[in-house]
Amino acid sequence: MQLRDLLNQYQPITLEEILAQCEILPFDIYHLHPESKSYVLLAKANRSVSTIAKLAFQFYIRKEDAAAYLEIKTRSVAKYRETFETKMSDRFATMEEKAESLYRFADVLIEASLNNPQDLKMIEETRGFVKMVVDLAAVNLTLLDHLKREGDVNRYLYRHSINVFILASTFLQLHAMRAGGITPKEVLNAAMGALYIDIAMPQVPEEIYGKSSPLTDEEMAVIRQHPAAGYAILKTAVDEHQVVMSETSLAVVLGHHERFDGSGYPKGAKGDTLPLAIRAISICDVYEALTSPRPYRPPYLQFAAAKFMKEEMATKFDPDLLDKFIIMLGPKQMIEYEFEKRRLLK
Ligand SMILES: [Fe+2]
Repeated sequence: MQLRDLLNQYQPITLEEILAQCEILPFDIYHLHPESKSYVLLAKANRSVSTIAKLAFQFYIRKEDAAAYLEIKTRSVAKYRETFETKMSDRFATMEEKAESLYRFADVLIEASLNNPQDLKMIEETRGFVKMVVDLAAVNLTLLDHLKREGDVNRYLYRHSINVFILASTFLQLHAMRAGGITPKEVLNAAMGALYIDIAMPQVPEEIYGKSSPLTDEEMAVIRQHPAAGYAILKTAVDEHQVVMSETSLAVVLGHHERFDGSGYPKGAKGDTLPLAIRAISICDVYEALTSPRPYRPPYLQFAAAKFMKEEMATKFDPDLLDKFIIMLGPKQMIEYEFEKRRLLK
């Protein structure tokens, strides 16, 4: 079964921009029924927009309406870019405010890019954004204290991509660039790849992606196609749509599920044959997934996630890089771990 044959018929959306820009609904809006797991029509197109916000808190549209939705959403790109740039250059803005504007901008960029990777304008926007965040991460480690993990579980994919990108931007600069293992230009290319690692995930059916019980072998085989499918999407964008993206960015997308002991996919490459950027980003990816809530489990506390990776997955990662990653997480996580231990002992 090929991933492209399994395309979801519906996609999750946010209402914010529709409420701000439209008086009547431009397309039908659906709700995912929690028990039957089927999509139920909430409001038909042409109905007044203001009446639907109270009807549910997660909204979906049909895939054929994705282009109209993205057009509304991307009209806000300039507004979010301006707010982000203003916050970045405001020396009185707190890191919390900077992170807030970063997520707002990134959310539009990543949603638009993941749903329409051929959009040249969006990829151009993304490049400027990546540079600003990499620069910010280089001078201010506290950005890592503002990673967002809460929010709509259906939009987990977008938030996960943004968080892996922030972790990778910081980690690559702190522990790879300073040691001379990677050039500043390659950090930018790798960070761009980190933002797009799961670009093919919207093709995985929600019944598999959002499943709360263990996956069957067949379902797992579908999931395991996403790195190669993501690479193919971006390679087509580069070859046929003149999107400018480096080989490093593409290699990161293809290789982010490879493991140091050779147990990963798609190639089963191992050890130092894996480029440094891939070894580093695979750590960021697993750590971010563990510390985020998933349909089948609550989130790991940050220190507990690092401990799990160190003890249960030790062979999967470059040991030296994993140690450096845990050092980067800092003493705050130790305190959190002690706090949780005491809570459990009560
Ligand atoms: Fe992935």
